[in-house]
Amino acid sequence: MSENKSGEKQNIITIDGPSGVGKSSVSRKIAAATGFTYLDTGAMYRGVGWHFLHHKVSLDDVAMMAAKLAELELELLPAPDESSDVGVLVNGENVSAAIRTPEMAMVASRVSAIPVVREILTSIQRNYGEKGKIVAEGRDTGTIVFPRAAYKFFLDAEPEERARRRVLQLQATGVVADFNQILSMTLERDKNDSERAIAPLSKALDAHCIDTTGITIQQVVEKILQIIADTGR
Ligand code: DC
Repeated sequence: MSENKSGEKQNIITIDGPSGVGKSSVSRKIAAATGFTYLDTGAMYRGVGWHFLHHKVSLDDVAMMAAKLAELELELLPAPDESSDVGVLVNGENVSAAIRTPEMAMVASRVSAIPVVREILTSIQRNYGEKGKIVAEGRDTGTIVFPRAAYKFFLDAEPEERARRRVLQLQATGVVADFNQILSMTLERDKNDSERAIAPLSKALDAHCIDTTGITIQQVVEKILQIIADTGR
């Protein structure tokens, strides 16, 4: 159950939006400012994508995917600092760097449309929500995973701006990235993630929408913290 038994709001902040919009950087800062635990749900889809690739599982073979998911142990490692991604262990193997490539992002996007994958990851994510206060980041955390979250945000920005940010992020980690290629991958992921049948990327009706085009991560963080403070009054 994503809601508690009394039907009250959960102590959860959800931050959803398309790829490259700054969700991870914002979510890590919000987690640091509030003391909540950061839950990177995209890292989970990337971990599953890596697991399937590693075992050469066809994404058309539902029975094999279910069997491989039953063998999967997925562990999130806390981000070492505010500017780093969370790490991921897949059956004890550290795949933290391997899952962060643009190619693995596309695999994660494809895998995320598969019902059995969403079912399992949604249930794991809800367990995190039962255990404590979290900042959940993803595509469907405000709509499907935690519909009773106390604070919901949806970040958006023009695709060109998101692709530019992605190129800079990749360059910062030593990966050479071509803007046009990243832009077309961004558009393709937007399409996959928004048009899939289950839990597509969409803004929860009660989410605050923030257009991050032309504003800094810090300004987005301040807006979110202000809304949280105003809501709590
Ligand atoms: O946030 P990210 O780029 O790490 O996510 C990788 C892919 O995982 C994304 O393209 C779609 C999928 N995803 C999802 O379907 N639902 C989520 N809650 C998080 C990610």
